[in-house]
Amino acid sequence: MSKNILLLAGDGIGPEIVNEAVKVLDRLNEKMNLNVNYEHDLMGGCAIDAHGVPLTDETIAKARASDGILLGAVGGPKWDTLDRAIRPEKGLLKIRAELDLFSNLRPAILYPQLADASSLKRELVEGLDILIVRELTGGIYFGEPRGIRVLENGERQGYNTLVYNESEIERIGRNAFEIAQKRGKRLCSVEKANVLEVSGLWREVMESLAADYPDVELSHMYVDNAAMQLVRAPKQFDVIVTGNLFGDILSDCAAMLTGSIGMLPSASLNAGGLGMYEPVHGSAPDIANQGIANPLATILSLEMLLRYSLGMADAADAIAKAVGDVLDQGLRTADILPQGVSEGITKVSTSEMGDAVVKALG
Ligand code: IPM
Ligand code: MG
Repeated sequence: MSKNILLLAGDGIGPEIVNEAVKVLDRLNEKMNLNVNYEHDLMGGCAIDAHGVPLTDETIAKARASDGILLGAVGGPKWDTLDRAIRPEKGLLKIRAELDLFSNLRPAILYPQLADASSLKRELVEGLDILIVRELTGGIYFGEPRGIRVLENGERQGYNTLVYNESEIERIGRNAFEIAQKRGKRLCSVEKANVLEVSGLWREVMESLAADYPDVELSHMYVDNAAMQLVRAPKQFDVIVTGNLFGDILSDCAAMLTGSIGMLPSASLNAGGLGMYEPVHGSAPDIANQGIANPLATILSLEMLLRYSLGMADAADAIAKAVGDVLDQGLRTADILPQGVSEGITKVSTSEMGDAVVKALG
């Protein structure tokens, strides 16, 4: 049976890196008869240029009908001065909300070959394997009311609302417990319960779920401490579950521990298993069209898509192995290049890296 992937390359380095993932998919289709079809569509700044909005209803319908979505990245300075309601980022938030992609999985795994690219000492990060489970369709990102209003004294006031319903906390909580059961069986719930009522409720719900998952050890941590612990002793964590905004911040922090945000894929899933897969990094407009972006996070996002949404574990394993092989061969894009002279290391471009992965697939 054939499967269909929707490709949303987006802006900045998006098209370059998605192009490399497509090369990998083409090769796998050929080699393993995957029968995975794909189609390109627009989201973000490119959609604004073409249609005046960052995401059209037609694109949402195509995404909904697909078996999985692979996203590059959206946004750039060209669209930063537009009205907030039609900025590229709105397209991303809209597709997350429309498809109810509430569970965002952001792994931070250190490839042993890149231990020296981390900003932390090798012994602190060697063997690092953390998974951040970020709630993606609620919290302050979507809470109402929101806006900028003029007060009686003429001063302007910006306001947003942090809200979480019990049911929203419960579904991301259960999701995180189940994932922890399949990994190291340790779950750390991160919030700010010493200050925020929302976080107090979050903690209560997590506590109440724990009884259903006796094999998982649940702990709680305030977000400020969690940020500190991530850069002090990151290996203490297995799975972290947290809300939308805290997850946004902590996942960038965790990503950097692995040497480069250019290596990390992510998955955003709904309850029915439909998923959107994307690199954790952004559109990096400053390095767009120079052929220097690292395509591996996108190639690894394709790996996750094949594994989790299409059930093609063999093809996913082949990609994971090929990425390990090219790193073993010493190939590095600029972001993962060690400083100073390194024996056996070759600097490669975006497309050379993609080609090397294709070659490693055999
Ligand atoms: C992310 C990004 C997005 C977010 C932006 C681009 C809206 O930072 O996916 O982490 O804040 O969720
Ligand atoms: Mg972010």
